[in-house]
Amino acid sequence: MEDSTQSGPLSGMTYSQRTFGCQMNVHDAERVAGMLEAAGATRVETIEEADIVVFLTCCVREAADVRLMGQVASMKNIPPAHDAPRIVAVGGCIGQRDGAKLQEALSHVDIVFGTHNIGHLVELISERREGGKPVAEVLEVSDEDVCGLPIRREEPWRAWVPIMTGCNNFCTYCIVPYVRGRERSRPIEDVFAEIDSLAAEGVQEAILLGQNVNSYGRDLYGSPRFSEVLEHAGRSGLARVRFITSHPKDISPLTIEAFASYPNLMPHLHLPLQSGSDRILKLMNRSYDTGRYLEVVDELRDKIPDISLSTDIIVGFPGETEEDFCDTLSMVEEVGYGSAYTFIYSRREGTPAAEMEDDTPHEVIQDRFDRLVDVVQKSAYEQNQKEAGVRLPVLFDGVSKRDGAMLNGKSPKDQTVHVPLPDGADAGDFAGRIREVEIEEARTWYLKGRLADG
Ligand code: SAH
Ligand code: SF4
Ligand code: F3S
Repeated sequence: MEDSTQSGPLSGMTYSQRTFGCQMNVHDAERVAGMLEAAGATRVETIEEADIVVFLTCCVREAADVRLMGQVASMKNIPPAHDAPRIVAVGGCIGQRDGAKLQEALSHVDIVFGTHNIGHLVELISERREGGKPVAEVLEVSDEDVCGLPIRREEPWRAWVPIMTGCNNFCTYCIVPYVRGRERSRPIEDVFAEIDSLAAEGVQEAILLGQNVNSYGRDLYGSPRFSEVLEHAGRSGLARVRFITSHPKDISPLTIEAFASYPNLMPHLHLPLQSGSDRILKLMNRSYDTGRYLEVVDELRDKIPDISLSTDIIVGFPGETEEDFCDTLSMVEEVGYGSAYTFIYSRREGTPAAEMEDDTPHEVIQDRFDRLVDVVQKSAYEQNQKEAGVRLPVLFDGVSKRDGAMLNGKSPKDQTVHVPLPDGADAGDFAGRIREVEIEEARTWYLKGRLADG
């Protein structure tokens, strides 16, 4: 798989990536790939074939943390792809959190890097390749314009547009502010320019990205300017625009107004609830109560009647009682989510919640989790029924991994849509295209239909 036409410090080398966690890492992975390829490396799928393996890690919950460390540890037993030893680089949020400690635990890790110095990776790899020592480089704040790095987009028709990094909210359970730093917004002209160039390139869907997009601009301009970003994206000519994540405390009437004004801003909002108990929300430091959350939902539905909402919910936060939990179930029923990510609380060292008394037995929490999943599924099923018999524009990704005769795509509300590939049609003609689909069947996790135009 070597490409002699490429030159650069990593020319002739192969690389593979393993990426975990949220969209921040997905986007960082595109930048890592872009840089490695600009430096001459060639992508391969398997670790066995790779001279360089880059892990982008996540530590938001313990399970992911442990699984990942297991994967990194198992690298030791895989023989090198070519003559030179394989270079293992571990970055992302565990890299940021653990730094040199990670190499103490796993001595075959050549490079540890963090969330603020992705731009140094090629240099770190080159030095190691030329005989330098293993290195752990973690910076407290970014010293680079993270948005100026080359990108290798996974799907050419879909672009992640980071508008800000970091988080200032310090929800008491969450490690993200410690591993991603404080909120830093990109200058608004840069965001506008990127949106315009994506539209000019013919990208179909842009996803504006940040831990808390609603407060975009506050650090640079004194007050948030997210509504202006939405307006710009609304006028950009892009077929579809989405944004994640919104914090309920920061979503403003101006933002809702802009959101409602442009049909290419897709009618779906991820609005993390976390808990339906006001007492727990306070302990979580979420800065809203259920009354305020429901007001936001009403404002949204008033302006965008067809909007679909999704959410994140944590079960088993320290001290959560049966009553608190039942309040969460009631909120899920009342809001009517199209989907929800549900998590069992995971204690993260260094966060305030880690110090809170936590004596609920695991079986009780697991039982609550199972009951929550049932209610979420019921809600998702009911919401999806609204689509049955309706004609929808679907942005196709390509064929399903499990069934080469089934096309996969997304509805405006971000529902997964399955459509049989028409006889004799080429799946490649669908990837990245929007086509009208008649929805014939609505299930809990997906819609199924047929092409409306043949
Ligand atoms: N910035 C986003 C997402 C952050 S992480 C937001 O504020 O919504 C994604 C989700 O992981 C969170 O919404 C939360 O539901 C969950 N999460 C974060 N820390 C957790 C922990 N310690 N245990 C369980 N779930 C957690
Ligand atoms: Fe974590 Fe809260 Fe920030 Fe989201 S808003 S990243 S949950 S601290
Ligand atoms: Fe995980 Fe880091 Fe995202 S901890 S959720 S990858 S910001």
